[in-house]
Amino acid sequence: MHLTLRQLRIFEAVARRLSFTRAAEDLHLSQPAVSMQVKQLEEALGLPLFEQLGKRIHLTEAGEEMRRYAHAINGLLQEAEQVFDEMRGLERGRLNIAVASTANYFAPRLLASFCERYPALQISLRVTNRKGLLAALGDSDVDLVIMGQPPASMDLTAEEFMDNPLVVIAAPGHPLAGRKRIPLEALEAETFLVREKGSGTRSAMERHFAEHGITLSTAMEMGTSEAIKQGVEAGLGLGLLSLHTLEMELELGRVVILDVDSFPILRHWFVVHRAGRRLSRPALAFKDFVLDEAQGILGQPAVHAEANLP
Ligand code: PGA
Repeated sequence: MHLTLRQLRIFEAVARRLSFTRAAEDLHLSQPAVSMQVKQLEEALGLPLFEQLGKRIHLTEAGEEMRRYAHAINGLLQEAEQVFDEMRGLERGRLNIAVASTANYFAPRLLASFCERYPALQISLRVTNRKGLLAALGDSDVDLVIMGQPPASMDLTAEEFMDNPLVVIAAPGHPLAGRKRIPLEALEAETFLVREKGSGTRSAMERHFAEHGITLSTAMEMGTSEAIKQGVEAGLGLGLLSLHTLEMELELGRVVILDVDSFPILRHWFVVHRAGRRLSRPALAFKDFVLDEAQGILGQPAVHAEANLP
């Protein structure tokens, strides 16, 4: 049996419309071209596929059989096309991610590993604070977001993948440095350098002190973790930051973690997207990568304050 995919497609259109003219219109072909293809198919089979009854055409028994096969074959072809489109997507697609300012201390290391696996992917990384991330999720203009616990009021899918301990830091020469089990109340007399409003670190800090009935007396606002670390190192006050931002300063002994009661505040990192959003293949691959491998690639920062005391 010799038949072509083109003949099958044309046959399916005629069988669906039961009219050579309307099938020709659907396919943007001339009516004689359609009739010719169907005739050649009938010749290849040695059986008629349509019969004329009055003004209308009907499928013969062979026509009914052929319609089933043509439908199955076209369905498979479409499926194959989709699979290959998606494969091309992973090879050459785009991935738009946004991460919390604090997560930017580890996100590039994750991306480096991910890009090694999919070198042709175009990746765009936006770094902003929690407020900016929620706005981006609201506008649907990112595929995935890495952030702290998202609010329940938004319709989001969020999966946790790593701890995010927040600690109090001081300059090594600060009077509280090296003291054991500092009561939370002792911090009331201190000056704190805090992140800007809209930062997840800032709101977690405010929540924590409010829950323990502590009011921070003086506070200086700084827009980045970098500025806070510099300020702390220069003796401007204490800071409260994620352990993820402190790796280098702790290693070089530029700041120390204070052993404060009820610390560290244990936050978590989540990979987040709008609920019900159909993720592209690159986005799905990145999400799986983060959930399965981030912890292994990054290791866990030391959670215990004692480990970093001078
Ligand atoms: P931030 O977010 O960088 O906005 O502070 C981190 C977090 O939500 O814990």
